[in-house]
Amino acid sequence: MRILIKDIHTIIQVEEGTPRTTAVKGSDMKYLPRLEKAWLMVKDDIIEDFGPMANCPDNGNIVISAEGKWLFPSWCDSHTHLVYAGSREGEFVLRTQGATYEEIAAQGGGILNSAQRLNETIEEDLLKQSLPRLKEIMMLGTGAVEIKSGYGLTLEGELKMLRVIKKLKRLSPMHIKATFLGAHAIPLEYKENRQGYIDLIIKKMLPIIAEEKLAEYIDVFCDKGFFTVEETDELLQAGAKHGLKPKIHANELAVSGGVQVGVKNKAVSVDHLERIGIEEIMELLHSKTMPTVLPGTSFFLGIDYAPVRQMINAGLPVCLASDYNPGSTPSGRMAFVLTLACLKMGMLPEEAINAVTINGAVAMECLNNYGTIARGKKANFFLTKPLSSLALLPYSYGSNMIDTVFVNGQAQNE
Ligand code: NIG
Ligand code: FE
Repeated sequence: MRILIKDIHTIIQVEEGTPRTTAVKGSDMKYLPRLEKAWLMVKDDIIEDFGPMANCPDNGNIVISAEGKWLFPSWCDSHTHLVYAGSREGEFVLRTQGATYEEIAAQGGGILNSAQRLNETIEEDLLKQSLPRLKEIMMLGTGAVEIKSGYGLTLEGELKMLRVIKKLKRLSPMHIKATFLGAHAIPLEYKENRQGYIDLIIKKMLPIIAEEKLAEYIDVFCDKGFFTVEETDELLQAGAKHGLKPKIHANELAVSGGVQVGVKNKAVSVDHLERIGIEEIMELLHSKTMPTVLPGTSFFLGIDYAPVRQMINAGLPVCLASDYNPGSTPSGRMAFVLTLACLKMGMLPEEAINAVTINGAVAMECLNNYGTIARGKKANFFLTKPLSSLALLPYSYGSNMIDTVFVNGQAQNE
């Protein structure tokens, strides 16, 4: 089955030659390869070919005219917590009255609030609540996504979350990576026995997760009031023994040492980075770890934005992700992440788009199949509404500029 899309205004992030296998970094981030007045052929679930309209083939079983529309590779959202139970708008109201995220967390709200709801919710209901969120972000252009556990904080709760993610992998055409975040917070009953909870993760949770192949990555919230550098190190090393690679939360609330412990453990990515300085930047420059920033969280919590300009100017790659979760950013809308990246962190639209395509795919280790428009890659892309220029996409922050979403070569409907 072949679908020919013709008269495309511009294909963005297109790779004519051998597809790249590494992140885009530093001053290269402002270049975004494009092909104007183009066609693209999908064969089954694969991008078979593309080229200029001057040599447009005529062997499509289905022919779509994309007059005025732009074609982008699907967003790769490498950091979400979209499996959760209920919502936390009560905390949102408290924050409008001046309470901080940390104060709410210290009083047993925040992650512990979501954990209580999750443990009261049966697996079937958790799946029912999570599937529409996944579908929603797919219709907003995301084609590959990482999803974390971390609202269980009990053996049963964490396994329940990871099993739901496993079911989502079967139910959705999207590419999904699972991350075990048992070390998201210390449960109340372990407040005076932190090591007891860490031992529960290491001795009870990790062996079952590895045995049932429930996660590819291990994450730790290494920050003030959550897990220390030493605890993080112990957890990441235990994860590695079970074949789980680190992707950690670091430097959101304080200069936590999280970047250093992440790099030391060869983390695939270190995420948040609202509070990093030159030391962390130098550490990252000498590593393969992807720095991932989450501007939606800075927006929703009213905290600092990561110093992205400084990072890119120093030569680092930067990845942008949504952090979709019920507490610090209840949104998986990547177009808004792009708007924030441009307006609040001084990124060019081209840099921001590199950050949510190629670099997002690198942060999920799936650039071989996603993240660019290249022959032989999965046909995950979207067509926009007509655009006067690339910048119209992050500029139009209140409108959905996406017209048609293709995942695995199939047009998706609401
Ligand atoms: O990435 N910072 C830690 N975890 C999430 C928030 C979790 C929550 O508040 O539910 C985050 O922002
Ligand atoms: Fe997060």
